[in-house]
Amino acid sequence: DWTIENFIDMEVEKIQNQVGDKKVLCALSGGVDSSVVAALIHKAIGDQLTCIFVDHGLLRKNEADDVMKVFADDFNMNIIKIDAAERFLTKLKGVDDPEKKRKIIGNEFIYVFDDEAAKLKEIDYLAQGTLYTDIIESGTETAQTIKSHHNVGGLPENMQFELIEPLNTLFKDEVRELGTQLGLPDRVVWRQPFPGPGLAIRVLGEVTEEKLAIVRESDAILREEIAAAGLDRDIWQYFTVLPDIRSVGVMGDARTYDYTIGIRAVTSIDGMTSDWARIPWDVLEKISTRIVNDVAHINRVVYDVTSKPPATIEWE
Ligand code: XMP
Repeated sequence: DWTIENFIDMEVEKIQNQVGDKKVLCALSGGVDSSVVAALIHKAIGDQLTCIFVDHGLLRKNEADDVMKVFADDFNMNIIKIDAAERFLTKLKGVDDPEKKRKIIGNEFIYVFDDEAAKLKEIDYLAQGTLYTDIIESGTETAQTIKSHHNVGGLPENMQFELIEPLNTLFKDEVRELGTQLGLPDRVVWRQPFPGPGLAIRVLGEVTEEKLAIVRESDAILREEIAAAGLDRDIWQYFTVLPDIRSVGVMGDARTYDYTIGIRAVTSIDGMTSDWARIPWDVLEKISTRIVNDVAHINRVVYDVTSKPPATIEWE
């Protein structure tokens, strides 16, 4: 009968038979699907797997270090981390349209990945974390950008990869169970959805390093307090956004004229519809106080109480 343990045994054998002594490449984003696929293939073929992890500078606080800790240190995988923050920020300079930002980031991701993949010799297979639901829905919104990143179509023409998609019969909950069984930590297995364009669509309008820092710091505080309140599994997605507005405040005896942080926290099944999470007021109070005190240039915090529809989950 079907159990995760049987699934692992079967897939490991299947991957070993298919790959033989050849090499596999995997684009690791730190998300649940690519993490689980990397762990599974690593279990099957060890050092014959190489992962590429692109840090586009739009990740959350400590995220890149954490990915490296799990996969390079704890799992001892071959993983190449590319620090491409400058490349992405340069491309985003002066761009304030949300869809343009998405397009630039998606394209740049493929260029960076291709550049790195082209340096690797004798790779025959490309591993993808495609789920069953990705196939039947031909890609959920959440999956879209990440998926196009390691789409074969985005790779150099002279490279011929064969695809390995060992998760393509599984649903999300089964993928999480598989991840746990393979020894991935809860923070990876239960990671909330995070969009491919990252914090760039949470800094509304033009992305600057200063604004990214504000969103990154406030988001870290929010995540800390949500975890401390034990709400991290109940709330489907939670993050902060930095709208491009300033308002008047007062600090000590002085008038301030600074930015507002928006908190977005939603309950949802699949991201297609959502309701705003009823976070207890004392938790919200603590988050607000800490953000205003600890994050420079923030003098106001607001909570988004809109469902989807009519609003979307992200603000861009
Ligand atoms: P919206 O804002 O459309 O978001 O209600 C629904 C879900 O999709 C995620 N999202 C994205 N994921 N690339 C992604 O990989 C994107 O460009 C993108 N835009 C939104 C969002 O975080 C939520 O989980």
